[in-house]
Amino acid sequence: MIANVHADAIRRIDNAELIGVADNSYEFALKFAQKWGVKAFNDYNELLLNKEIDVVCVCTPSCFHAQNAIDALNKGKHVVLEKPMAITVEDTDKIIETCAKTGKLLTVISQLRFSKDIIKVKKLIEDGTFGKITLCELNMKYYRSPEYYSSSPWKGTLKFDGGGALMNQGIHGIDLLEFIMGDIKNVEGKAKTLFHDIEVEDTAVAIVEFSSGALGTIIASSCAYPGFNRQITICGSDGYAILSENKIEKLFIKDQPCEANDVCDLGGASDPTKIDSDYHKLQFENLMSAIKGEAKLLIDCYEGKKAVKIIESIYKSRT
Ligand SMILES: NC(=O)c1ccc[n+]([C@@H]2O[C@H](COP(=O)([O-])OP(=O)(O)OC[C@H]3O[C@@H](n4cnc5c(N)ncnc54)[C@H](O)[C@@H]3O)[C@@H](O)[C@H]2O)c1
Repeated sequence: MIANVHADAIRRIDNAELIGVADNSYEFALKFAQKWGVKAFNDYNELLLNKEIDVVCVCTPSCFHAQNAIDALNKGKHVVLEKPMAITVEDTDKIIETCAKTGKLLTVISQLRFSKDIIKVKKLIEDGTFGKITLCELNMKYYRSPEYYSSSPWKGTLKFDGGGALMNQGIHGIDLLEFIMGDIKNVEGKAKTLFHDIEVEDTAVAIVEFSSGALGTIIASSCAYPGFNRQITICGSDGYAILSENKIEKLFIKDQPCEANDVCDLGGASDPTKIDSDYHKLQFENLMSAIKGEAKLLIDCYEGKKAVKIIESIYKSRT
């Protein structure tokens, strides 16, 4: 799948030429070669020995990335390596060592770092435009169908995919989180397989502490139907940015004119006196009905306790 994106990108670059392809299935290699008008190599080592080739794109299942990249570097090729760089930190270190040893260049695909809007938000944070950055939320509520996993021999497996909602679907967002916000100092979380019949996680949450002191959260899913755009929200003392996929959805900077009313009209988010009374009214009415024995009290003391208990647990788990 992604090899086609690589081929198309290469096709659109004037001084680049796609020479050929290798796949562990020669049949797949032939099909791909026919589609793109290139040579199909029967053996991957033959491709690596070809003198015409300067750069090798590694688009294999994630668990092969490290070995494929190391082999290509050792044969004197530069490498474009699909994400994730590898499925263990140990393997990323082996790739780094091989780059240093061979002096060849390797780039790990993280195409969204080239988005103008993402770069703009990163710069606004660095310039201090949003004031003191305190919070960042990364939400990656995606959906992959059961067929997405059942039709692939490697997706969703621990051995070949290395992970799920985080390592496969979520890695771009996680890469962007640190790219935009700066170094992450601590991270802790939970990952579960709740819906899909797969070995890797389909649901994960994490709490992040950035070196800047800001706090953040990560939410990742591959079973949040029908799937939402990835959203990154950055909040500071003088404004905020919301990125939806790779575009700015909203930007608010203190003391600057803003055209979008929904952004300007912040209501109770910035001024508690502006909270309207509609919902209070409804709750009062429920209490009144309950007093008269006509309705169940919807939010009783047990309900009220729940949120306090959650918050107290968070405080107690603080280090
Ligand atoms: N950058 C992105 O946005 C993006 C998007 C999708 C996938 N990816 C990454 O691209 C990689 C490939 O994903 P895909 O969806 O294209 O997978 P795919 O299953 O469509 O293609 C993988 C190909 O590799 C071949 N292959 C398997 N084992 C091999 C081996 N040992 N040597 C050579 N070829 C082998 C398979 O036959 C298949 O043709 C994954 O690591 C994935 O994480 C990146």
